[in-house]
Amino acid sequence: MSKRVFIFDTTLRDGEQVPGCQLNTVEKIQIAKALEELGVDVIEAGFPISSPGDFNSVVEISKAVTWPVICGLTRAVEKDIDVAVEALKYARHKRIHTGIGTSDSHIRYKFNSNREEIIERAVRAVKYAKKYVEDVEFYAEDAGRTENEYLARVIEAVVKAGATVVNIPDTTGYCLPEEYGAKIRYLVEHVDGIHKAVISTHCHNDLGMATANTMAALLNGARQCEVTINGVGERAGNTALEEIAMILKSHKEIDLETNINSKKIYGLSRTVSSLMNMPVQANKAIVGRNAFAHSSGIHQDGVIKDMSTYEIIDPKDIGLDGNAIVLTARSGRAALRTRLEALGVRLSEEKLDKTYQEFLRLADKKKDIGDEDLLVLSGMDRSDDHHVKLEFLQVTSGVGVRPVASIGLDIAGEKFEAAAVGNGPVDAAINALKEIIKRPMVLKEFTIQNITKGSNDVGKVHMQVEHEGKLYYGFSANTDIVAASVEAYIDCINKFKQV
Ligand code: KIV
Ligand code: ZN
Repeated sequence: MSKRVFIFDTTLRDGEQVPGCQLNTVEKIQIAKALEELGVDVIEAGFPISSPGDFNSVVEISKAVTWPVICGLTRAVEKDIDVAVEALKYARHKRIHTGIGTSDSHIRYKFNSNREEIIERAVRAVKYAKKYVEDVEFYAEDAGRTENEYLARVIEAVVKAGATVVNIPDTTGYCLPEEYGAKIRYLVEHVDGIHKAVISTHCHNDLGMATANTMAALLNGARQCEVTINGVGERAGNTALEEIAMILKSHKEIDLETNINSKKIYGLSRTVSSLMNMPVQANKAIVGRNAFAHSSGIHQDGVIKDMSTYEIIDPKDIGLDGNAIVLTARSGRAALRTRLEALGVRLSEEKLDKTYQEFLRLADKKKDIGDEDLLVLSGMDRSDDHHVKLEFLQVTSGVGVRPVASIGLDIAGEKFEAAAVGNGPVDAAINALKEIIKRPMVLKEFTIQNITKGSNDVGKVHMQVEHEGKLYYGFSANTDIVAASVEAYIDCINKFKQV
């Protein structure tokens, strides 16, 4: 029988630390339920003491999810642990994830402390957490740059104190696969009592080695890996769940298996991307738009003759169905629900109603609605609680004319109108918007992507606007890309403190 690897998903904690990609509680619950269906073993639902929003998300996810262990992050601080215990009150299976920095740099600069004191603090935190929950995971932050001998002493002490899982993060993404694998092997061979705990990997992708490092750790005795959907996470992100799941599924000779239902991967990847406003890189392994697109003639010819010539994974295994149902304006609400569920998206009745209305509006403009369109629509009902709403937009542009736009806004029930020119239709529309909202705002990033193909396609717009030293991210999708751009700008504005 294959050996089991536990999948610890941290999309909602480490993944959500990406600036501007924060999710609200309803969105987090949607993702948590989809992670449960995907088959993850542990969901790190948040860092409860960090904000009331995070606390509340951990509470609500604990109520919404049945099978996976729900985990709350803490520092090695009693107050953090108290708050996490409270947030996990409703979880059927709960885990406290506590820890402290162990590298010399963390000990000296972060804690102004010394190695012995750090061990004492680590042990104290584990013992304190153990009073409330049986399942306590300890993380040795910056373990990647911690000297192995000292790391082994820390890990031995926390296992003795009752840690059930020991997490060895490569916090800075610095380790080489060989080095990280050897670190795990060192712990397996030198820590007394290590068999009482599961060794966990937690790798960051700063040098593009997160997946390679995670694999090196698994091959050397780690049995849990901490990952995120699409590899989202601060800086260059974390190890991508879909990569580890598909490596282990494809390489049977490794004899390690997960509980992941790989057919749910694609749908969840797109849900996370649209809810977090984080486009998936086209050539991203497993879930990128081009991951299965063979463009060279030789490859196409081979794949047509037999898929195994150039494809190592069957796209159907990740839920990419070449024969996906295409919905049209005549499709009913039930067909929409069925298709979304097949993509791993379960909506409340209320949200399904709103998505169906959006679907009908889009179907009026675009004949065939595919999976990507549906995933965008289902993650798109944020404008309801918007303080600033777009009432109308009229733009004139073309060759030989000066682009001009007039715009109408509803700001908390009050109507405003303005017009402006610009060097293009989007510029004119944004200038008109700025005539009404006179706040310092600088557009920092602006991307337009089509979802599938064709001139009748939906354009997805991601924007980043700087306001009073902070970055705000906005998203919209529309068959009219000027309208989508203005809506995305307004999405950013709605996130400012006060308009
Ligand atoms: O990267 C890291 O070290 C972490 C810990 C808090 C687990 O995210
Ligand atoms: Zn991390």
